[in-house]
Amino acid sequence: MMENLVSNWFDGGILPDSYVLPPEKRPGKLIFPVAKMIPVIDFENHDRRSTIHQILEACQDYGLFQVVNHGVPRDLMDETMNVMKKFHEMPTKDKASECSKDPERSCRFYTSSENYTSEKVHYWRDAVIHHCDPLDDYMQFWPENPTAYREVVGQFTIAVRKLASLILDLIGEGLGFNPGHFGGEYSKKPMLLVNHYPPCPDPSLTLGLAKHCDPSVITIILQGDVPGLQVFYDEEWFVVEPLAHAFVVNLGYILQIMSNGKLKGAVHRVVTSSTVARTTASLFIYPSEDSVIEPQTALVNASNPPLYRAFLYKHFSTKYISATADAKTVEQFILKTSTDDHDGHGDVDDNLDLTK
Ligand code: OGA
Ligand code: NI
Repeated sequence: MMENLVSNWFDGGILPDSYVLPPEKRPGKLIFPVAKMIPVIDFENHDRRSTIHQILEACQDYGLFQVVNHGVPRDLMDETMNVMKKFHEMPTKDKASECSKDPERSCRFYTSSENYTSEKVHYWRDAVIHHCDPLDDYMQFWPENPTAYREVVGQFTIAVRKLASLILDLIGEGLGFNPGHFGGEYSKKPMLLVNHYPPCPDPSLTLGLAKHCDPSVITIILQGDVPGLQVFYDEEWFVVEPLAHAFVVNLGYILQIMSNGKLKGAVHRVVTSSTVARTTASLFIYPSEDSVIEPQTALVNASNPPLYRAFLYKHFSTKYISATADAKTVEQFILKTSTDDHDGHGDVDDNLDLTK
């Protein structure tokens, strides 16, 4: 499989058939409108109420926003981008061996997706993913080369997790949840994904990452200065504009469910470029495996019956992976059906299907 890394065999040739998407999934055109309507929220505005208001509006409308002056040092963002690029420039066998230190596979290197062998079409991306909490347990399995990787990426994950928890506190406050609502089990399993999208022979026929909504609570993305990330809004694709030293924040399915649909998960994808390589980092905030995910009682009442059923996070994530993020399959899994009870009080025992 490793000989198939997209960073390996681009030689200016034509796009192999195995990367050509069916017509309805292709980007087709190469120029897309920029998502100028997506809010860019300044965290140095010290008016907490106004910040919360801006975040909630963005999460209701788009499920996605950008943050600037967020407290993560610019040097650290630049150093992280550099070390991630250097990692992906290394020879394949080095990348593979740097990511196979843990027999439990808490750090993994793959191309296209984790379903490479079973997927119908491949995507133009190489990736490293690893756990980052507790840092001391997992860092020993991260790449040791480039030499700065552990130090820099370690600091980066600490800083970005701090930002994520601030954002979750603000969202929780805006939704009327108790302070610290997202602090424990719902943020237990952060993972860092380092994506690399090399120049591609034909960006109109393929994607770096398929249309999806993340299986996370929220995801914080460092996208650098190369465009590629797009958000689906009003049945159209828009470019999420690269802004210097900003982070893109997108909501995943879990926050959509917990907010009972008040906030929405962003549907997004990544297009490739024929001229420039693109490297990004996504920090996913995931709940613990045994967390019960359901609409939170503060948002459920007689006029707002629960839209989603209760389930264990691990059952959701198994479904998400086996369905390769297919929106219809995931929706079938999360939506309450007409046969579920609609009394507006989430009854975990009734709704929790432990068999799925
Ligand atoms: C992801 C993702 C966006 C990007 O990793 O889930 O959507 O720009 N990444 O790489
Ligand atoms: Ni994503």
